[in-house]
Formats: sequence, C-alpha cells, structure tokens
Amino acid sequence: MSLVKIQNVMSNELGKRVFVTRPPEPPPEFLLNDPTDSIMIGITKQFGVPFTWTFAGLTNPHIAIVGISGSGKSVLVKTFLLRASYIWNTNAIIIDWAGEYKDWVNTSGGTVISLAQGDFLNIMDLSGMKPLDRAKQILTSFEILTDISDYPEQKRLTIEAIEQTYLNSGFQLAAIPDPKRESPTLKDVIALLEEKITEGTYEYPAELENAVYRLRQFAREGEDYFARKSTVDLGRLVSSGLVDLDLSALPDERFRALAALFVLQSLKEKMRMEGAKKVKGINAIVVLDEAWKIANDERSDAIMIVREGRKYNFGLIVASQNPTDINEAIFSNVGTTFMLKVKFERFMNYLQSSLNFSDFIRKEISKFGVGQSAVEMSFQTSVQFPETFVLESIIMELPLDAYTITIGDLLNQDELSDTTIKKEVTIEKIALNARFVEINVGVDVVNDIFKQLDAKNRLIDARGLAQIMSAKGVSRDASVAFFRGLQFSDTIITRVFMNVNV
Ligand SMILES: Nc1ncnc2c1ncn2[C@@H]1O[C@H](COP(=O)(O)OP(=O)(O)O)[C@@H](O)[C@H]1O
Ligand SMILES: [Mg+2]
Repeated sequence: MSLVKIQNVMSNELGKRVFVTRPPEPPPEFLLNDPTDSIMIGITKQFGVPFTWTFAGLTNPHIAIVGISGSGKSVLVKTFLLRASYIWNTNAIIIDWAGEYKDWVNTSGGTVISLAQGDFLNIMDLSGMKPLDRAKQILTSFEILTDISDYPEQKRLTIEAIEQTYLNSGFQLAAIPDPKRESPTLKDVIALLEEKITEGTYEYPAELENAVYRLRQFAREGEDYFARKSTVDLGRLVSSGLVDLDLSALPDERFRALAALFVLQSLKEKMRMEGAKKVKGINAIVVLDEAWKIANDERSDAIMIVREGRKYNFGLIVASQNPTDINEAIFSNVGTTFMLKVKFERFMNYLQSSLNFSDFIRKEISKFGVGQSAVEMSFQTSVQFPETFVLESIIMELPLDAYTITIGDLLNQDELSDTTIKKEVTIEKIALNARFVEINVGVDVVNDIFKQLDAKNRLIDARGLAQIMSAKGVSRDASVAFFRGLQFSDTIITRVFMNVNV
C-alpha cells in the first residue's frame, strides 16, 4: 500500500483548497484586533498584515520568548510592557537578573529596587500570609537552592525554628497576621537554634549545627540582604506601575534565585488573596528574563502563576536563550510563543516538536536577523489554520527624547564582559535636565550643552560630556556630583576625570 495517492483534480477545485495559501498565516481577523484594546507587535511577513496582540481569544495571557543572545528578546519585553501599560494600564514587575532593565525603567518613570544596594527584603515578611504558609514557602526556597531535602532532620529543625520564631514574635501560626506587627528575621531563627546548641540537650548536635550553618549563609553580616527589615512593600509591588527588581548586585546566583523565588511566592499569594477577577484583563505582568533556575524548577511559583494567573488577571513573560530551560509546565501554559533567531539544532528540535510548526517555519527561524520573529498562538477555539506565522520584524518602542552616555571606553576587558557592570546610561531629557539643575548649572548653559549633545545624535561618552561641561565652566565638584547622580560608581568617575582638562 502506498502512502501517497495521486488524484486527478481540476484547477478550480484546487483553488478552493486551503493549502494553496501556503506558507500560511492566520486570517487577518485573528491578527488585526481593535487598536484600543490590543498591542501592536509588527507586520506579518507573508501578507503584510499588522499583528496586534491581545489575550482575548487565547488559552492564556502568558508569553514565552526564545532566541539567541542579541536576537531582541529584551527589546520585545520592553516594547510589550510599555504598550500594555498604555493600553490596559498594566503593572509590571521585572525580575532583573543582570540589571539590564534598570536604566530603561528609570527612563520610563518606573521604580527600581536595587537589592544589596540599599534595598533589603526580609524573607520572613508575611504580607498578609499566615506564618504557617510562609514558613513552608521559605523551606521550599531552601529546598530549591540548597541540599536541605537530603537531610530530613535538618529540614524539620529549620521549619520548627521558623515557626517558633513567629510565635515568639507574637504571631499566631494559622491566623492572618496583624499588619502592624513587625516580622522577625532569619537572624532570630538562627539565634533560636544556637540557643539549642548551647543547651546541649539535643539528641543530634551535628544536625543542629549543620542547620544553623545553612541558614547563616543567608544572614552573614554584609550578606544579610534577606535577613533585615524590608525596605520594600511587597504587597504594593503589583500595583506600582513599572517595577524593576534589580538583582545584579547580589553576590551570586543563589542569592538572586532566593530573591526571585521569594518575590514570586509573595506575588502568587497576593494574587490568590485578591481573588478571581470578573472582568478579564491583564492587571500585572511578571517578567522572568534569563532566570533559568526559577523558570525551570517545578517547585517554583512561576509555575503556579502560569497555571492560575489567568483567572486573577496575572500574566507571566518568560524569556530565555535556551528553550529547554523553561519548564514544560510553563511552555504548555503559555498562550503565545515568540521565536526569535534560534541557532542550535537541539533547541530547534525541541521547539518544533513541542509547537509542531512546519519545516518552512523552521528554516525561516534559522535565517532570522535581529528583531525578526515567528509567533505561535494557542486559541481557545479550535482553528483551521496553522497557529505559527512569521513577522517581518518586531516594531520596537523607542524612548522619546532620550540621551545615552556611554563608558565603554573607560572599561577594561574583564569589566566589559561583566554583565553586572553597565556600559551606558540612557536618560530622558527632562531627567537629564533635572540633574543639571541639581548642580546649579544655569539655563543658558544647559541649553547649550543639550545643543551639543543633539549634534552628536544624543549619544556621548562620559569623558566627552565632562569635557563639554568643563568648557562651559561647570566646576569639577559639580560635575562629580552630576555623574554620581547618574549612578556612576566612584571608580568610573575617577577615570572620567583622569583625562579631562578642568
Ligand atoms: N525589533 C527590533 N528592531 C530593531 N533593533 C532591535 C530589535 N530588537 C532588538 N534590536 C537591537 O538588538 C539589540 C539586542 O537586543 P536585546 O533585546 O537586548 O537582545 P536579547 O535580549 O535577545 O539578548 C538591541 O539593543 C537593539 O539595538
Ligand atoms: Mg536580553
């Protein structure tokens, strides 16, 4: 029996068949939505239809973005968040692993929370949760980040000590806490366990000591980012516009992951406490960019958020270079996947087998340039067309009136490849103007400086700017204060002035 049967078909018959429009796109009515209730993304490659995104007909509002480094993932995230905030007033919380969103959030009028640079999170804060539940969550984070699950005795000791600490601070374990009561910290938990060591009556002293040792990693002087009174009101994060949680100054991946897990747990809790929403929309979006540990572990609350988010109007955006780093539960619960340029066959195979797109699409993806993307959408109703199509390009949102000050020429090779060191500052004209006013530069001089910057297409290296300011009679002290105000470190500022004639 042969698999292919030759048929005699008249050409007018053929014309009625769908496959003639191959390589196909969803029909325009699925791509082109009400512009006051959808987000412009780009133009389709095949028929040049503007593609505007809405969660309305999709199985879920969540989004996965994959593509090699430099393919345009973060730009897509930024573009998306800005437009979502214009159209739906959507709040966003970016879990910013490498601090790469910080400047953009500042420029866009959002709030930056910089952990380990003046901001602290107390992981024992309850934000309305029952102490019992928070204690369990803290332990889950330790299970993801440390080997505590291999040591049941230490696990028991730790959770009991956490619960006892809440009790000692006047909380009831199974009751909604009084918001005015101050939460204890991990340091109190450690003190309690140390007391037990001193008493010397515990049956397994080595277990006790190891439990203390594990907790101390997160509470050492100078590294007690999560064991101090919070400077951040987590309960308000989801309604604070655009928020960047900058984790780049934390010493290592474990600390970053702990912060991210804690914030996700709190957001999930907040989402559940507020209850299901009657009117559909996207009130808040959580962004996980390159946060593989968090997107990958099935115990992470990223997974709860994708499973339950829709009914609470919560969306999740996960972006990664490596699609296999995104947990399958997340992949199968996103309503939209953007595939920017993908190189590795292994990743392409994974994507093609999960999303089932044609070899034609596969070939397109491998040829993409920056900002080009294939899009896969899962519609709530079953549809008669392939759900994957190609965008000519993603139309990115440019910040208006922004000036960029670069310091790349002041960095050495190691610093250049260090992702935690920023290489430029982008700032809006009003904000930059405010910096000049702060250091008492007169309005005529400021206008003159802006004219010079405009002539350089609003892009200048820090030394060049210092030179211009100096030529305009701005004192060195004032200039130093200016660069500090732009968040440049003292080391960099010293280098800026090394070669400036003042
Ligand atoms: N849609 C786009 N149109 C034009 N340029 C883009 C687009 N997306 C990205 N770029 C350019 O590519 C650079 C890298 O993009 P980025 O989003 O940071 O990549 P990734 O996050 O995938 O590593 C950006 O700084 C920008 O200059
Ligand atoms: Mg990126």
